[in-house]
Amino acid sequence: MMTSILSLASEAYPLIKTGGLADVVGAMPGALAPHGFRLTTMIPGYPEVLKALDSRQVVHRYDDLLGIEARLVAGTAYGLDLLVLESPELFSRGGSAYCDVTGRDWPDNWLRFGALGRAAADVALGKVSDLHPELLHAHDWQAAMAVAYLRYAGVAAIPSVVTIHNIAFPGRFPADVFPELGLPPEAFTIEGVEYYGGVGFLKAGLRAAAAITTVSPTYAEEIRKKAFGMGLEGLIAARRDHVFGIVNGIDTAIWNPATDPHLASVYDAGTLDRRKQNKRAVETAFGLAQGEGPVFCIISRLTTQKGMDVLASLADTLVAMGGRLALLGSGDAKLEASFAAAARRHPGRIGVRIGYDEALSHKLQGGADAILIPSRFEPCGLTQLYGLRYGCAPVATRTGGLADTIVDANEAALAAGVATGFLFDGVTADGLTHAIARAVAVYGNPTAWRLLQEQGMKADYSWNRSGKRYAELFRRLLKETHRSGR
Ligand code: ADP
Ligand code: GLC
Repeated sequence: MMTSILSLASEAYPLIKTGGLADVVGAMPGALAPHGFRLTTMIPGYPEVLKALDSRQVVHRYDDLLGIEARLVAGTAYGLDLLVLESPELFSRGGSAYCDVTGRDWPDNWLRFGALGRAAADVALGKVSDLHPELLHAHDWQAAMAVAYLRYAGVAAIPSVVTIHNIAFPGRFPADVFPELGLPPEAFTIEGVEYYGGVGFLKAGLRAAAAITTVSPTYAEEIRKKAFGMGLEGLIAARRDHVFGIVNGIDTAIWNPATDPHLASVYDAGTLDRRKQNKRAVETAFGLAQGEGPVFCIISRLTTQKGMDVLASLADTLVAMGGRLALLGSGDAKLEASFAAAARRHPGRIGVRIGYDEALSHKLQGGADAILIPSRFEPCGLTQLYGLRYGCAPVATRTGGLADTIVDANEAALAAGVATGFLFDGVTADGLTHAIARAVAVYGNPTAWRLLQEQGMKADYSWNRSGKRYAELFRRLLKETHRSGR
């Protein structure tokens, strides 16, 4: 018998994705199935989600879900078991999952994700569908409120886990939304959902969850400190016995250079020469002059979290060092303009694609020599894991999941043949320049470079290990719940 888990999130690949959260939520059912867990993924009914359903059954109708009409639809898509909260008023709009067309957060995000949390709690309580999950797994602030609803439901509820993918997004709203959330008045305290005078969705979940996980061991340590905790460091430190860092895995079926349909030429660690064709394809796609020097790539949200401001200021330096740059990303308008200007200054050396393009991201990993990830903080990071698997060496900050998954090419590691990439401390122009220079130097030694690529490709970042860690945690929580007689 499989144990039923309700996995609640605001995105899931391939249905709806704005970042790594979707990759992880989409991969987790497959990661936990071998351990006896059957995950039902609950997500908002965005138009693209509803369109993708290959079966659908309305299991519950709400006339008044925090004042909104909504329906709960059970279905499947891409092999995922889904519960979709369908409410045109909340989720069928222009713009993106969280923002309007101008990039501003929807002003009623508290209602959109409050309603999602309320409905998920109803499912967890066995009130609105045939599903009787034994554990609730909530991802990030958009899902965390479900855990608070369970806590204040007034009955013994199933255990819940909140996973922090990024603590910089707390889901904080003004105090005047509190009465609209349908929680009892006593919930508005520092021990409940109150957060710096307002309502904190993530905070509310972190207080109430049986366990908190985050997506790498180093980030689990970092968020106890002021510099990373974004105001939640006190709570994280206080609950440290219940906080676990479990590094993300990657979906090795989707990210496999030996079978990837997006590549001009497929390859593996034994046939790295075949990457050359892919490098030519990258040069063509980004208007780069053909050459022998290294092609660096960027696949990223263009934000200060990702250190893209520092990178933009170093475009000329990178070219002067003999590098070329292919950038795929979107985000901050100023950064987009700055990279576009760099491309105009360096035709044939810097190519920029502003936008989001899943296929092109695969092409870059399969053809560029190195991927630049100078994040100021990085809870886990997935692009370095894809890079490692594709022989595209990561050049990254020593923080969060980047520090946990990349073996820096220092002298000792190079001599021992265990290096997989380049790490540097502190996101400064000097630090990043030095790291790029080190990459260019190792690239100049083909034997050393190939060894570095092979080492990265050998590393196992599949879900095997991490799936097991989540399964162990879930099992322990379920046992504790049974023991306490619930
Ligand atoms: P984050 O979730 O913080 O943005 P991650 O590294 O965890 O960072 O995940 C980013 C995900 O989004 C990866 O799957 C990456 O390949 C993808 N991605 C980011 N920007 C783009 C883009 N412009 N086009 C295609 N994929 C992108
Ligand atoms: C967040 C983090 C990123 C992580 C992803 C998936 O978007 O910024 O570091 O890899 O979630 O957990």
